[in-house]
Amino acid sequence: MRKCKIGIVGFGTVGSGIYKILSSEVDSHPILKEIEIAKIAVKDLNKKRDIKLNTNLLTNDPFKLINDPSIDVIVEVMGGVDLAKDIILQSLKLGKSVVTANKAVIARYGEEIYKTASKEGVYILSEAAVCGGIPIIEPLKRSLKSNSIKKMVGIINGTTNFILSKMTNEKADYKETLKLAQSLGYAEFDPTADVEGHDAADKISILSELAFGGKITREEIHSEGISKINLKDIEYANKLGFEIKLLALSERGQINSNDSLALNIWVGPSLIPKSHPLATVKGVNNALLIEADPLGEIMLYGPGAGSGPTAASVVSDILNLHAASVKNNTIDPLLSFYFWRNCHIIESSQINKKNYLRIICLDSPGVIGKIGDIFGKNNVSIESIVQLDASEDKAEIVVITHEVNNGDFERSKDEINSLNEVKIIASQLSCI
Ligand code: NAP
Ligand code: HSE
Repeated sequence: MRKCKIGIVGFGTVGSGIYKILSSEVDSHPILKEIEIAKIAVKDLNKKRDIKLNTNLLTNDPFKLINDPSIDVIVEVMGGVDLAKDIILQSLKLGKSVVTANKAVIARYGEEIYKTASKEGVYILSEAAVCGGIPIIEPLKRSLKSNSIKKMVGIINGTTNFILSKMTNEKADYKETLKLAQSLGYAEFDPTADVEGHDAADKISILSELAFGGKITREEIHSEGISKINLKDIEYANKLGFEIKLLALSERGQINSNDSLALNIWVGPSLIPKSHPLATVKGVNNALLIEADPLGEIMLYGPGAGSGPTAASVVSDILNLHAASVKNNTIDPLLSFYFWRNCHIIESSQINKKNYLRIICLDSPGVIGKIGDIFGKNNVSIESIVQLDASEDKAEIVVITHEVNNGDFERSKDEINSLNEVKIIASQLSCI
């Protein structure tokens, strides 16, 4: 088999991990030896790097790689959106297959990118874009294709799971732990994407398109992050038998009269019973539960971020491309991807969920009754309501609802907020 020459755009956490795998002597499949790094694009040619490499390999112009006819595959591990999108599309148009770890680009421009790849007879592979080292993209495209996916729910951001685990187990400080996650290479360049739930929303958008076959409008996904979670919520959740995790969920609904499949998709911090398999997922690990017919339920689990695991996913994509290139001009319809139906996201007010609410109020007689009445009047059934902390002038009331309509719940919340006895609704989380 002839060599496969790759150009890598980006030599940070992921890019340097790819280099380490391709230059390591560990016992692995012989096809790995056929991959040759032709060029690497970086931003700053003078930056001190931990890895010693031939400086002739480096350039600060990514388009040199794209326009080099001897390079077969472009590996985009640079991050960002606009330039990365141009690099990907430009490469595909020049007949080069692309491997990317960039969920922000695929979640926003997947349709254009998948179509361009198909038109040009090349591939775009993105295993590393979701759940780092866990194989999830290719299984959804290939191994699970004989199933009808019903629901996916999981922890798909490593940084936030790392932070929440440390806050839960060690009462660690939120800001300090975020800094630690950044120094370990888990967080995005701008960690707002991680902590505000945008990264998880990008990932569940990509997974939903692959699982359900229709384009998802990324902006319509309702997402909330963990930046407002404090140690008190974690302590109360623990007392009530729950862990707090940032969950992403995507679930099949009905097909409407326009032949479009309704999907319930959201991202948010959630209470999970300690006995639930997702509650055991700690640190930078991710896990995704997939419910499918006729398969039943499976859980994919492993490291969701970090240099080695993410780079391993990228290199596997490169190997798949190299193996596919042997077939000469025939595109494998499962390794490529195209939409086969329309999907739409169900409005937030129409979905049903369990909820957790922490209310700070005056410790006055009858307040729990008033809160209960408001929920009852709005059709919101309560699973439990407890007063967990009372001092001289205030009490903290925690409510967990049954699965109820989100519109009814939001209306109740507004009415509770306007009670004279209520000082503030301190937090609102989902529950599963
Ligand atoms: P990173 O450590 O910040 O590395 C980014 C690299 O891109 C650096 O080498 C930088 O060059 C280079 N770069 C930036 N702008 C450039 C430009 N204009 N031209 C050429 N090179 C440029 O990022 P990372 O953590 O490896 O993440 C890369 C991608 O992988 C992102 O899309 C991220 O979302 C995704 N991802 C990351 C992880 C993870 O665990 N880190 C996991 C899954 C997916 P310099 O070295 O000169 O600064
Ligand atoms: N910042 C991302 C995370 C990297 O923490 O999950 C992996 O996609």
